[in-house]
Amino acid sequence: MNHKEKVMTLDEFTIQELRNYPGATGQLSGLLRDIGLAAKRVNVEVNKAGIADILGEAGKTNVQGESVKKLDEFANAQFINSLRTSIYCCGVASEEEEHFIAFTDEHSKKSKYVVLLDPLDGSSNIDVNVSIGTIFSVYRRLSPEGEECNLEDFLQPGTQQIAAGYIIYGSSTMMVYATRRSVQGFTLDPSIGEFCLSHPNLKCPAESDIFSVNVGYYYLYDDKVRQSIDHFMARDENDRIYRHRFVGCMVAEIHRTLIQGGIFMYPAFGKYKSGRLRLCYECNPMSFIMEKAGGMSMANSRQRLLELKPVQLHQRVPIFIGSKNMMETWKDIMNK
Ligand code: AHG
Ligand code: MN
Ligand code: MN
Ligand code: MN
Repeated sequence: MNHKEKVMTLDEFTIQELRNYPGATGQLSGLLRDIGLAAKRVNVEVNKAGIADILGEAGKTNVQGESVKKLDEFANAQFINSLRTSIYCCGVASEEEEHFIAFTDEHSKKSKYVVLLDPLDGSSNIDVNVSIGTIFSVYRRLSPEGEECNLEDFLQPGTQQIAAGYIIYGSSTMMVYATRRSVQGFTLDPSIGEFCLSHPNLKCPAESDIFSVNVGYYYLYDDKVRQSIDHFMARDENDRIYRHRFVGCMVAEIHRTLIQGGIFMYPAFGKYKSGRLRLCYECNPMSFIMEKAGGMSMANSRQRLLELKPVQLHQRVPIFIGSKNMMETWKDIMNK
């Protein structure tokens, strides 16, 4: 049998899902296809980044106080324009935009979904040809359909997500997304320019030997966090050996953790009193995906991250996320 004949594209898969769920209106499927299309356009630019004039800093500072790389701007514009052009989204909030954007045309206003975006994650990796990504999160609006969406539509707890996903621009380009039902992974087949279902029903292994944290800040973390890191570091050859990985791109860390298992931490430290990663654009979507894949995600040893109620679009939060058993062990150490 020809393998390729059986591989479903993202478009085919989302349409197939509609057949399985007769109550569905197709809006979420349409939205996921729009995001997939924007991702393909960004992927083309990512691949050209080494030779095109989009390499390097754009010379501005974003609302997070970080210098903005040109690809950040390109990806931001691309995703927002795709969502604006389509009819499946009534507004967008982005890491790169100070305020949320409400779409004002009649079709968009009738849509029931808002989208939150980190258009380009891990941007410091661009110049050194290491993986980068995009993260997205979808909520059903609270405001009435037909009106412009408002800030409260974007500030819902992560538990309310309808879908969340990421694109990883790596040795191959993949789109992974979770709905309330499952986590599905698609790999871009460059020969046909389509995302193809390659990782159906992704599950995060409950056990693993990988831990991931920026140990450069080790002495800045609080005592308990340091103790939990110590647990994963062998002191002699009789200790259980864990492997340490840190890419500097949350999408890459979470993607590895989903496939190989492990624990990824981004604790608070020094000037990042609330951690560095953003609740709405990074931590909520990744936590939703991880939980749907059977893993866990916490903001501290007692607080499930998805239950936090955001008060600001750009707020940051510490995150501890990964394989179920490793997270249980981590919690025990923290709560001792
Ligand atoms: P972004 O490029 O969207 O600003 O996010 C980068 C983030 C995250 O992906 C990564 O885990 C973290 O920054 C790395 O920060 P440090 O190098 O300070 O650990
Ligand atoms: Mn940034
Ligand atoms: Mn990011
Ligand atoms: Mn970013």
